[in-house]
Amino acid sequence: MNKDKLGIYIHIPFCVSKCNYCDFYSIKWDESTERKFIKCALEEIKMYNALNKRYSVDTIYIGGGTPSIIKDKNIYKIINEIYKSFDIDDDLELSIEANPNSLTKEKLKNYRQFKINRVSIGIQSLDNKILKTIGRIHNCEEAVRAIKMTQDAGFENMNTDIMFNISGQTISNVLLTIKEIIKLEVPHISFYSLKVEKNTPFFNMINNNELNMPDESLEREMYYMGRKEMESNNIYQYEISNFSRKGFECKHNLRYWTHKPYIGIGPAAHSYIEDTRFNNVDNINKYFDYIKSNKKAIVNRKTIDNKEKMFEYLILRLRLTKGFSSNDFYRTFKINFLDAYKDIIEELETFKLIKISKDNIRLTKKGIDVSNYVFTKFLI
Ligand SMILES: C[S@@+](CC[C@H](N)C(=O)[O-])C[C@H]1O[C@@H](n2cnc3c(N)ncnc32)[C@H](O)[C@@H]1O
Ligand code: SF4
Repeated sequence: MNKDKLGIYIHIPFCVSKCNYCDFYSIKWDESTERKFIKCALEEIKMYNALNKRYSVDTIYIGGGTPSIIKDKNIYKIINEIYKSFDIDDDLELSIEANPNSLTKEKLKNYRQFKINRVSIGIQSLDNKILKTIGRIHNCEEAVRAIKMTQDAGFENMNTDIMFNISGQTISNVLLTIKEIIKLEVPHISFYSLKVEKNTPFFNMINNNELNMPDESLEREMYYMGRKEMESNNIYQYEISNFSRKGFECKHNLRYWTHKPYIGIGPAAHSYIEDTRFNNVDNINKYFDYIKSNKKAIVNRKTIDNKEKMFEYLILRLRLTKGFSSNDFYRTFKINFLDAYKDIIEELETFKLIKISKDNIRLTKKGIDVSNYVFTKFLI
């Protein structure tokens, strides 16, 4: 029997220190909490092994937090437990996130032995002043060294996270970073606009007038110029914030935008499977309590009905530059998209926000810029 495909996300909830902008769930690393976490994560993976009857795994994403700061042998234990609990496809994409100054030659060599075949490094900027503003614990020389070391270890498939819209950043400053990354022949770039999240030091600094954000037009200009630089160097946009050379798109992240199933392991991890979204508790001690009492750590669960799925389908697929086909929409919902949304489509076409050719529907570059506005149209 041909099995359906499943993705597994592992949330490693530790960082050396917290960056000024970040609200991802993570706590300060310590050895004994790492040990307890690994024990629970292995138990949690086993709790899902009944899914093996129906699914085989084709993507694993070890994210965080900062997975590269925990012991290599613990990364191995997690991967090994997944291999024991599930059938794994031969073309598995196995990604790990890393902070530049936690990578070493030996660590990267071990990762390759564990069958990890994609490394995503948080670079953010190659300007030391900007790195300091955002509270990173590495400088730009260490960031470049980490990229080269990863390539020398034989990882062809890698990503760097780059951020723009940072206080004090200029367009030329963003472009210098992008040009340097392109020169280093990194095949995938996640290009994120800094979002000021509540409960972060940046949020408080802005409220106290200690920090000025770039204005909206500068933010957009940084995005356009960064995108242009990447596209003129054959690094194509395939999603609002993601760019890659052909064939290097992240298979795991594509699941999130195409309603493909995934389960999340670890505190605060999210899952989507069989039309149900759920997430784990975002507190490590509560997470330990659930798992130790032999329960999954799920705190929210919602089965999405057809109407919600249709809205999600539109806002997720339209994030992708290739959009979607009306045939696929019909196969999924038994509704003719072009008829059902005729008036909205006409309006969006008039403003050149959406492009329809044959059965393909996608946002234009202008539409991508105002994607949130376009998405609200489909809410009606
Ligand atoms: C889990 S981290 C990556 C791995 C590692 N923890 C690191 O930072 O090097 C995920 C990425 O999300 C991005 N990110 C986090 N908070 C953000 C925010 N508030 N706005 C925009 N991007 C953000 C950063 O680019 C960061 O590298
Ligand atoms: S950006 Fe990465 S290193 Fe910084 S706090 Fe967030 S998860 Fe940790």
